[in-house]
Amino acid sequence: MSEAKIEAWLEEDREFAPSEAFSAQANAQPSIYDEAAKDPVAWWREQANRVTWDVAPTSTLEWELPNAKWFADGMLNASVSCVDVHVREGRGDRVAFNWVADAEGESRVITYHELYREVCRTANALIELGVKKGDRIAVYMPMIPEAVFAMLAIVRLGAIHSVVFGGFSADALASRILDSDCRFVVTADGAFRRGAATPLKPAVDEALKSCPDVSAVLVVKRTDGAVDWVEGRDHWWHDIVERQSASHEPESFPAETPLFIMYTSGTTAKPKGIFHTTGGYLTQAATTYYYVFDVKPETDVCWTAADIGWITGHSYIVYGPLINGVTQIMYEGLPDSGGRDRWWKIISHYKATILYTAPTTIRTLMKWGHQIPEGYDLSSLRLLGTVGEPINPEAWMWYRKNIGGSRCPIVDTWWQTETGAILCSPLPGITATKPGAAMRALPGISVAVVDDAGNEVGNNSGGYLVVTAPWPSMTRGIWGDPDRFMSTYWARFPGKYFAGDGAKLDAEGDLWLLGRVDDVMNISGHRLSTTEVEHALVGHHAVAEAAVVGASDDTTGQAIVAFVTLKLSADDADKDQAALIEELRAHVASVISPIAKPRQIILTPELPKTRSGKIMRRLLRDVAENRSLGDVTTLTDPTVVNMIAGLMDTSATAED
Ligand code: WTA
Repeated sequence: MSEAKIEAWLEEDREFAPSEAFSAQANAQPSIYDEAAKDPVAWWREQANRVTWDVAPTSTLEWELPNAKWFADGMLNASVSCVDVHVREGRGDRVAFNWVADAEGESRVITYHELYREVCRTANALIELGVKKGDRIAVYMPMIPEAVFAMLAIVRLGAIHSVVFGGFSADALASRILDSDCRFVVTADGAFRRGAATPLKPAVDEALKSCPDVSAVLVVKRTDGAVDWVEGRDHWWHDIVERQSASHEPESFPAETPLFIMYTSGTTAKPKGIFHTTGGYLTQAATTYYYVFDVKPETDVCWTAADIGWITGHSYIVYGPLINGVTQIMYEGLPDSGGRDRWWKIISHYKATILYTAPTTIRTLMKWGHQIPEGYDLSSLRLLGTVGEPINPEAWMWYRKNIGGSRCPIVDTWWQTETGAILCSPLPGITATKPGAAMRALPGISVAVVDDAGNEVGNNSGGYLVVTAPWPSMTRGIWGDPDRFMSTYWARFPGKYFAGDGAKLDAEGDLWLLGRVDDVMNISGHRLSTTEVEHALVGHHAVAEAAVVGASDDTTGQAIVAFVTLKLSADDADKDQAALIEELRAHVASVISPIAKPRQIILTPELPKTRSGKIMRRLLRDVAENRSLGDVTTLTDPTVVNMIAGLMDTSATAED
């Protein structure tokens, strides 16, 4: 599919109207927008009935910017809404998860009743290990069912999970454990990726050297590898969980009880502990899952192809789908574990009806060729979703045609770790879709696009995306740092939530997301800050200064390009540049994660600086994206940037 063809489509205002067949069956009816707009807070109170309350709330919103309380006098237990209620109401035999291992042929079916028993056992084990209400617990796990059991067991006790993506390094894990003072860790000995076992527990052992307050580590045995063991601290899951009682009486907690912390990159070197509370978050996760994905719990087989280590996994593998009582696919492996047709094998085998993934994955699947999905029966699919980064029209069209058989609506869902749940998306069956547009705010949500002065822009204009009214699943703040919460999100445009994204309204007033406007990069849908990577680079003994930019990349959306000046020691002087660059890339991977490895590192004698000594990132981004250079007159030495452009042309691009 050529760019020219895409352009032509866009010029003719390519728009897909909802099909009548879909509309007739859709969960959402067109009146939903007006109903919600009449009184959004009352509308959300209605939606809160999707959650199971022990004491139904009589209060709705208490709002004192930037602090919101939703449904504050309600009492509930999050795990009851996700699990117990389905068993209690006779849905215990319904499959909650079809878990599919990395290795072909290995799978597990978990019904809601079994999920109940596993969550209770895990909760009882955590009690035995000393977990109490309000404790923070790090979860550092592969995509195995025990990760979900652990999350639900933790919140069942009124404790708070902080899930750390299994791809993060020991350093990254340690800093997250320390920041929120986690006293417990749940992990596995290792994980499987494309058939190979990779260790996980050694990173925990390493991290805990600097976290003396962690008293217990619960370890799932997933591989055959040997692990180091700290007697008294480490406990095998199979030793302690399996012998527990399979029932547990849940306690009720106030709606504003913290539910979880999720660390995400901001514009500084230190990731922020975004935390969410119970009643509002669950309400919006459940409501958005119901309407945006149009789920029919009796018949749908839903697959959110994300990792539980990210917010998408929290809201749309764990909380949203389970409250709705749907059947899901949970997959441990990579898209090409066992072959590049693995996803299509899974979809055709389980007759998946809904698939939710990220543009970067769609672009990878697209590169592998449409012939691969063509070999499989994907006719069970009825809805496709995308999240995490702007989707380019070409990928959108490919997804629609080759995966969705030109029949499935595509929901391009915009949201963030901070928003907790989807805020902008078409509603299937109601909203027309355009390739690359998130279209509009959901019912009950108010967003606007504003200019630098905070004034709303009209159609055919761009600016910054802001949210203009509080919403139930909004973050309640940054763990331990209320000032930073106010200054990061609420100070740029007084009275409005500043998302950090650029956006435009097209001629018809439909919303398009344009990417970050701050120093946050989006690499394959993963958020990383430029400063975080710079920090890691200057932590290497050979590096004097580093400037990092996110350059556009055909597959990963953005890729990291680092410009580095060296303070060479005698040792390093002997190394060739290629070896040193590899060493620096490995260093970043070990400090943060392999996802943070720069695609390119350019060693340069100087960085372009303004007369006031600021590094000119804008110019470096131009260099990294091969654009002609803009205004260089404010630079101390304008020749530096041309020299760097020359170095860029000859530098190697890493594939991994
Ligand atoms: C980006 C992921 C365009 C955006 C749920 C946002 C998107 C950041 C979209 C949040 C989308 C997410 N279109 N951009 N549909 N969805 N983004 O916290 O820049 O990992 O600010 O949450 O991803 O990333 P986060």
